[in-house]
This record gives sequence, C-alpha cells and structure tokens, in this order.
Amino acid sequence: MRDFTIDNLTEIVLEEYGSKTNDPRFRQIITSLLKHLHAFVKDVELTEEEWFKAIMYLTATGQMCDDKRQEFILLSDVLGVSMLVDAINHPKSGKGTESTVLGPFYVSGAPEYENGASIIKKQYAEQVALVQGKVTDPDGNPIAGARLDVWQTAANGSYDVQDQTMPENNMRGVFTTDEGGNYAFVTEKPLSYSIPTDGPVGELLRGTSRHSMRPAHIHFIISADGYEPLTTHVFSDGDEYLDSDAVFATKSSLIGHYTESEDAGLAARYNIPVPFSHLQFDMGLMPS
Ligand code: BEZ
Ligand code: FE
Repeated sequence: MRDFTIDNLTEIVLEEYGSKTNDPRFRQIITSLLKHLHAFVKDVELTEEEWFKAIMYLTATGQMCDDKRQEFILLSDVLGVSMLVDAINHPKSGKGTESTVLGPFYVSGAPEYENGASIIKKQYAEQVALVQGKVTDPDGNPIAGARLDVWQTAANGSYDVQDQTMPENNMRGVFTTDEGGNYAFVTEKPLSYSIPTDGPVGELLRGTSRHSMRPAHIHFIISADGYEPLTTHVFSDGDEYLDSDAVFATKSSLIGHYTESEDAGLAARYNIPVPFSHLQFDMGLMPS
C-alpha cells in the first residue's frame, strides 16, 4: 500500500475523485476545487488551530441562516464570488441592461400592483420618489407585459425583513409594463446602508478592516416571455459608496440620476405631493 505524504496526497485524492465521478461537469468541478483547496492549504501551511477555526466559522455561517437570513449568500457577496459568477454568466454585451447581485433580501411573492402604485407601506422620508421607465428589446422596441419585481430599503436604511417594526412587504412590489413597455411606481429614494454585520460576515469585515456599506440602490428582477430574466439594481448617482461597495456590485451603466421635480401634472397623475424625486431609468432585455 501507498503511504500518504504532503507530496503525493493531492495526486491520490484527485485520482480517486477523477476516476469515480460519473457526471463529467461534476467531475470537473470537484477535481478543480480539490486541486485549489489542497494548493491553498499547502501554500499557507495551515495550522490545526486555523483549520478548526475555519470549520467553526463555516458552522457559524450555516447556523446564522434561516428563511429570512442567508449568511452564505452574504459571504459569497463580500468575497466577490457572487459578482464573479455574475460576470461569467452575464458578460457585458453592449446591449441590454447589465446585471448585478441578487443579494440576500429578495422575497418571492411580493404584492402585485397596478402601474404607478406606491410600494410604501410605512413612510420614513419626507418626500416620495417617482421611478419610471421603459423596458425594451435590443432594437429599442417596447416589451409589453414584462414583469418587474422591485425591492429596496426604506429610507431608514433597512429592508422589511430586517426590521420588526415595519409592515410586511414594505418597499416591495411587482409591476407589469403597459402596451408601450412603460413601468412606473412610487417609492422613497433609497439610502446607502450597512449589510448585516452581526454574524460571521461582520467578523470577516472587521478582521480585514473593510467597511460594510452599500451605495443606495433599488433592486429589480425583470422577466418577459422570450427574454433572458434580468437581475439588477439602479444605484443613486452621487452616493459616497459607489466606489467602495462592500459587495463589489456597482456598474457605472446602472447609476440612475434622480432629479428634484415640481411637475404638477406628474404629481396629479401619480397622486403624490410636490416636490418629489424623479428617476427615469429604461431597461433592456436580451432575447433568450
Ligand atoms: C443587497 O443589496 O440587498 C445586498 C446585496 C449583497 C449583500 C448584502 C445586501
Ligand atoms: Fe439591496
């Protein structure tokens, strides 16, 4: 029999997994993962204490997860892995709106609203914001019937699922584009906010002297028959964290420009007081 040594163990492990894993893609993934994992352990000459600390860290990450909190997504986000997966799967094509991270605060089953309705159930800001735009195909033709699932923090910097004092589905809603591909909703202008730091991810950020802030943004998942679904954000221009997003998810094409408006016609149409913030942001979908 062979003795296992630092010099031959990786090769033996790779041979074992490589020769027995039937599914070709899984074989590729598991053997590459093992190769890099072994190389990492050898590179830093991991001590037993460090290895056990890593095990306890991953255990705590799992224990932090429930139906409202996904610490593993958060970990993937702050490590830049979510954005790497996004970049590989949605390369920049010059056409269609760029994608970015989903984040851990998406909740399916948000209320469906008429175009132009408000997603505010509890208002924190003095002034509301009107967000509107058009969803189009790569030739600029409107896409009617596109579904926009939107969610964001309230103007106190929290998502509804993080804040027990907020009504369920505050700042969440599903909208459908009209015949001209138009969507519109009333909201509050989002604020920059801190990702949760009360768990293992916070420990990592503190240990690496990184801040936990994300620039203000509104999340969108847009889908329509015959088109690739799009998961994206619209960031607020001028936000101080655009250049240092804790999860590396900003893209300059996704920065929206809010203006201060006193347009009485728009205010009457959407039943909102003046002045209001106004964001116009068009979205492009790619055929599937
Ligand atoms: C968010 O945008 O909600 C988010 C994304 C990644 C990590 C934490 C929060
Ligand atoms: Fe967010």
